[in-house]
Amino acid sequence: MMKAIHMQLLKVASCCLVIGCLAIAVLVHGSEKAKADRPVVSVVIVGGTGDLSTRYLWQGFYSLYQGQKDKFSFDFYGAARMPASEGDGQLASILKHNVSCSKSVQPGLGCQTLLDAYRAMVSYRKLKTADDYADLCKEMEQEEAKEHGRLFYLSVPPFAYAGIAKNIAKGCRPESRAWLRVVLEKPFGHDHGSAEELATQLSAHLREEEIYRIDHYLGKIGVQSILPFRMLNDGNYKDLWNREHIERVEIVMKEKIDSKGRLEFYNEYGVIRDVMQNHLTEIFTLVAMEMPANISSRREFLNNKIRLLQQTQPVKPHQAVIGQYDGYVDQWREELGKGPSDETLVPTFTAAALYVENPRWKGVPFVLVAGKKLDERLGYVRVVFKDNAVCVTKAGRNGSVNRCSKHQQMIFYTGNPGLKYPAILVSDHLPKPMLPTSWSVPNNDPNTDIFGSNLSDFYYFSPPKDQDAYTSLIASCFHGDQKMFVGTDDLMASWRIWTPLLQSLENKRPRIYTGGEDTGTWLDFRVKDRTVKYIHEQEDPWESADAAPVFQSITDRFRSRPLVTGKEESVVAQLAQHLLSIAAESIQKRGSFHIAFPGGSTPRSLFAHLAKLSNLFPWEDTFVWMVDERCVPLTDDHSNFKQLHDSLLQFVNVPYLNINPMPVKLANGFCDASDKGAETYEDDLRQIPDGRLDYVLLGMGADGHVASLFPNHPTVGEKSAKVTLSDGGPKNNVPDRMTLTLPTINNARHAGVLILGKGKRDMVSTLKTEGVGDPLRYPVTGVDLKKGEQVWYIDHEALV
Ligand SMILES: *[C@@H]1O[C@H](CO)[C@@H](O)[C@H](O)[C@H]1NC(C)=O
Ligand SMILES: *[C@@H]1O[C@H](CO)[C@@H](O)[C@H](O)[C@H]1NC(C)=O
Ligand SMILES: *[C@@H]1O[C@H](CO)[C@@H](O)[C@H](O)[C@H]1NC(C)=O
Ligand SMILES: *[C@@H]1O[C@H](CO)[C@@H](O)[C@H](O)[C@H]1NC(C)=O
Repeated sequence: MMKAIHMQLLKVASCCLVIGCLAIAVLVHGSEKAKADRPVVSVVIVGGTGDLSTRYLWQGFYSLYQGQKDKFSFDFYGAARMPASEGDGQLASILKHNVSCSKSVQPGLGCQTLLDAYRAMVSYRKLKTADDYADLCKEMEQEEAKEHGRLFYLSVPPFAYAGIAKNIAKGCRPESRAWLRVVLEKPFGHDHGSAEELATQLSAHLREEEIYRIDHYLGKIGVQSILPFRMLNDGNYKDLWNREHIERVEIVMKEKIDSKGRLEFYNEYGVIRDVMQNHLTEIFTLVAMEMPANISSRREFLNNKIRLLQQTQPVKPHQAVIGQYDGYVDQWREELGKGPSDETLVPTFTAAALYVENPRWKGVPFVLVAGKKLDERLGYVRVVFKDNAVCVTKAGRNGSVNRCSKHQQMIFYTGNPGLKYPAILVSDHLPKPMLPTSWSVPNNDPNTDIFGSNLSDFYYFSPPKDQDAYTSLIASCFHGDQKMFVGTDDLMASWRIWTPLLQSLENKRPRIYTGGEDTGTWLDFRVKDRTVKYIHEQEDPWESADAAPVFQSITDRFRSRPLVTGKEESVVAQLAQHLLSIAAESIQKRGSFHIAFPGGSTPRSLFAHLAKLSNLFPWEDTFVWMVDERCVPLTDDHSNFKQLHDSLLQFVNVPYLNINPMPVKLANGFCDASDKGAETYEDDLRQIPDGRLDYVLLGMGADGHVASLFPNHPTVGEKSAKVTLSDGGPKNNVPDRMTLTLPTINNARHAGVLILGKGKRDMVSTLKTEGVGDPLRYPVTGVDLKKGEQVWYIDHEALV
């Protein structure tokens, strides 16, 4: 019945367009025929009375209708869970008040009449049960013979996706050659695991080519122009678009507003999940991916995009800084009814550097920055070129400022180009870019400040009209152009880049910033040696609390030092986490992490764990040393180095030159004192920052020996040498080991003693009762860091 009325109105509408409304009565029959030939498209907005629909979607679909009405016949449905008695009115009100010609792409002639027709064409549907879906889909089927496609736009929370997809798949997939497309809104999970789960649920009902995950940022004109611009200027900039010429790329999204009013959502997500994993990472792919040879080939485009994401290293903890605006916690407490002592560490600002391990980009930082409550609302991509020019004459071109004082750069404004900034700017010392003929040089003030240069120092262009992002993406979806949507594989690849960082931030305190212009330079940061660091040292107590080691929170103690205990897996996992955070901190402070590993069987489970964490651990800035070594070839099965290599080093990305095995074989054979191998190692150790190892990991023998310092052996009392030759104990005088001495171990910034298994039980209980300890008898009691942090890691088996 409803349907019949709508069909009638549709006829009216088409007529009005062609010949004006007065002639309707006579012409209904003629137009009926023309319409009958047009293929039918059904559009269903699920969540059609929600905020997004009100703001953008109905307007966007109106533009689609405006553009396609001559070729296609449309049926529009706005769906929600409320009964029609409520929904009808709400939907009508939205169409009346929130869709207008002034917001339309073609506001001119005939728009108002057409809009009236569009409004009348939309009907409300209650979609709650499987039967509701079945009914709606049955209604669509009547048109099947000439059906062109069915578009479902799901503007509902993600937990509802799977259920709706199931209902759609059950009765709404057209049987003819017509297409089915289902559009989804973010969030698509909150980490790799949950995104994968959601993707699996969807794929049970929908085919990949039916899923359109929308990232509305990709609909912005500034973003949409990046690839075509690169394509058009491939000849121009081919040789410039690489690590030889590009110093860094900044991809920035600054917001002025705070998170008030949506804290329940925001606090679950934070800035990384809210905009970096999706919007900024998508833009990053457009800038950095290899150009597809055929830009119309979706497959090729996607392959290149996914390859880039796979070549991008997961962000390490020291490659990001985080901040939170002052007052966020108060807003959160108020909005969610939390108590005055409740805390949230969710970042509202993050800067992170991405690195791509491929020949084009190796070493070039892609710096992604996003934040709330900043000084302005602005989005841009800024490509900063290296400029190796040396200027001899004072004046530059045409008397302007010398080029040597300026950055060579290329800027794509992605936020609101046009109002203040043109969409694309290229320093006028770079080759002049080509642009689509429809683009023009806008009328912006030539003295507008662009990162310290005048606008007049650039070639600059803007598109004819800044189309609304949703309008543009709705059109792309209609045309089946999946390029501007997020596929399952690229989504997973993007989560892989961000998930480790998100995990490592769980307990990290963000830097607190004032917000707005008062923030000043407080959030400025430096990207150096693959490390991102705030420029201003932190003085406020928040961040110094962060520098305070995790160990303060360990309440158990053993021999008056912190003790981590539990099942073996748990002890090892915690040790690995601690190593990770100490590594990050060391790299942040000194640019490197120097760790000495022991031999023996105890650390094997730790090594396996570290190998698993491989993506997360900053191996490329880690230097590996040995606690001790047997005097055998490094390829011998008894060699500590070989064990370390086989169970860890071969699986991780430590640069070859960062690995320092002990020189046990020199000119005169194994551990010959005259070769001065120990002295050589000592000299090498002296080169590291402050001559202090960042971490010494130790095991303990059942007899209490540590490193190769055995009970009652003179090496235990060694005071001056950092490294020495040792032997297996009093029974054997042949030096058959090389080892760090206690002064070296005790000079480290951190040491951990890992003790696992029943075999160590007796010695552990001895140590429990031996108050001060006697290092000569129990060398492990000589481990006593005065200037550093020392933690015991003893599993239940050994501690009982
Ligand atoms: C829709 O229009 C009404 C009436 O003009 C307005 O009050 C409301 O804020 C608009 N809603 C949105 C989401 O823009
Ligand atoms: C480019 O890709 C499109 C879409 O797959 C295809 O139709 C076209 O033939 C391709 N062009 C060339 C030159 O390969
Ligand atoms: C210098 O300015 C003149 C006049 O404005 C212009 O025609 C010329 O192209 C400029 N030279 C360069 C190198 O841009
Ligand atoms: C911008 O242009 C104005 C006027 O030509 C000039 O006075 C000013 O020094 C320029 N600023 C920069 C940063 O080049």
